[in-house]
Amino acid sequence: LTLSRLTGRHVIVTSGPTHEPIDPVRYIANRSSGSQGAAIAAALRDLGARVSFITGPATVPPPDGVDVIRVETAQQMRDAVEASLPADAAVMAAAVADWRVTNSSDKKMKKDGSGRPPALEMAENPDILAWISKLPQNRPRLVVGFAAETNDVIQHATDKRLRKGCDWIVANDVSPETGIMGGPENTVTLISENGPEEWPRMSKRDVARRLAERIAEEIG
Ligand code: C5P
Repeated sequence: LTLSRLTGRHVIVTSGPTHEPIDPVRYIANRSSGSQGAAIAAALRDLGARVSFITGPATVPPPDGVDVIRVETAQQMRDAVEASLPADAAVMAAAVADWRVTNSSDKKMKKDGSGRPPALEMAENPDILAWISKLPQNRPRLVVGFAAETNDVIQHATDKRLRKGCDWIVANDVSPETGIMGGPENTVTLISENGPEEWPRMSKRDVARRLAERIAEEIG
C-alpha cells in the first residue's frame, strides 16, 4: 500500500542539459549530468506514478519503467512537456540552456583565414518552468522547480519561486567546492509557501526519495 500511493498519478519530470546547436558538430551546453532528475523519476516510479521522463542528452541513463522522451534543445523540451500534459505534478529538474543560437549553420563552420571568429547571435529560450506554472488551463496541481545557485542560495531561490510561479523550489549550492554538480550527493533546501526547510546532505537518491514522498503527500 505504501508503495502505491502515486498509482494512477501522472508526473512529468524534465532532466539533463539541453544542447543548443551552433552547427552540425558544435553546440552550447552545460555541466548537468542528469543524475538528480533520473533519481527523482525512479523514486516517483517506485511510488507507483506513471512518469513522463523528458530528458536532454544526459550522461546517466534514464531509469527503467518510465516513459522516456529524448530531446536535444530547450524548444524541443518545451514541446515535449506540452505534449505530455495533462499531469498531476511536474518536476523540472533539467538544466535548460538560457539561450539558443539563432544564426546556427547547416554546414560545419570553417575558419575563414581572416582571424575573426564568427559572431553568434542568440535569443532567450522559453522558460519551461515559468510557462507551465502559469498555464491558464492544464496546470499540474503541483509544480516543482530547481534553483542551482552559487551564493545567497535561499534568497535567490525564494525570489525564483515567486517569479516563476511554481509551488516548490528545490534549492542547492552548486559552487565547485561543494562537488555537487556531477557528484553523488546533494545538500538541498525545499522552499514552499511555508518558507525554507533545510535537508541534511544526503545522496541524490535519498533526496529523490524524500522529494517523491513529499509529492505523494501532496497529490497522492
Ligand atoms: O532560472 P533558472 O534557470 O535558474 O531556473 C531553474 C529552474 O527553472 C529549474 O527548475 C529549471 O528546470 C527551470 N527552467 C526551465 N526552462 C528554462 C530555464 C529553467 O524549465 N528555460
